[in-house]
Amino acid sequence: MNIILFGAPGAGKGTQSEFVSKSKSIPIISTGDMFRDAVASKSELGKKVSSIMSKGALVPDNIVLKLIEERLTKDDCKNGFLLDGFPRTLPQAKGLNELLARFGKKIDKVISLEVTEENIISRLSTRRICKNCGKKYNLDTMPPKKKDVCDDCGGELFQREDDTPVTIKHRLSVYYIETQPLIEYYKNQNILQAVDGNKSVKEISDAIAVLL
Ligand code: AP5
Repeated sequence: MNIILFGAPGAGKGTQSEFVSKSKSIPIISTGDMFRDAVASKSELGKKVSSIMSKGALVPDNIVLKLIEERLTKDDCKNGFLLDGFPRTLPQAKGLNELLARFGKKIDKVISLEVTEENIISRLSTRRICKNCGKKYNLDTMPPKKKDVCDDCGGELFQREDDTPVTIKHRLSVYYIETQPLIEYYKNQNILQAVDGNKSVKEISDAIAVLL
């Protein structure tokens, strides 16, 4: 099954993608994670996108589509994949459709996580991530047992550079202008399913499981 997990920044896409990936045995393709890896490794791509990401702006469509084309042609995507954080603009969505059509594939379902702006701002401001294993925490809803230390591996927790109040605000305005129109785009294709993303992690993953 080829799935898009759609939602605003901080809607819980990364959190829910773990459950879907396990239950469907499909890889998670997170463009945000791929760009962060590129920045961390100081690759040419990383140098190009670093300042764009720290401002909370969008990486140009041609760069994103090239990265996605390379990733989707890998062997582990043969039996399906889960897209997290892509597509984010209409040209990206159209580019994805064209790319998949070339391989005789299509998107089967778009799960849209609907979360209030108040919850989004609160979740992003309190998100912490393990530097070592990448596990996500939330100081309000999923705090670590010991302050700033990962429960699983003992690694140090950090706050993402784009999770500051000014950048969160900018990311949200970019979302409303560039990304939210995709809801209509996928509704018109009859493949969009909305889920109330304001509930608990477990309630949301149960609701998604029913749809897949
Ligand atoms: P990306 O990494 O994709 O960031 P994002 O879309 O802003 O999403 P986040 O990762 O911030 O949030 P999420 O929805 O995964 O939420 P999470 O599960 O962590 O993109 C980063 C940047 O890369 C972009 O700004 C852009 O520059 C660039 N980029 C990436 N893709 C691109 C593209 N396609 N085109 C152009 N540029 C691109 O949850 C958030 C917090 O809430 C966590 O603390 C979590 O523990 C908590 N939480 C989750 N669920 C719940 C719940 N149900 N109840 C309570 N707390 C919860």
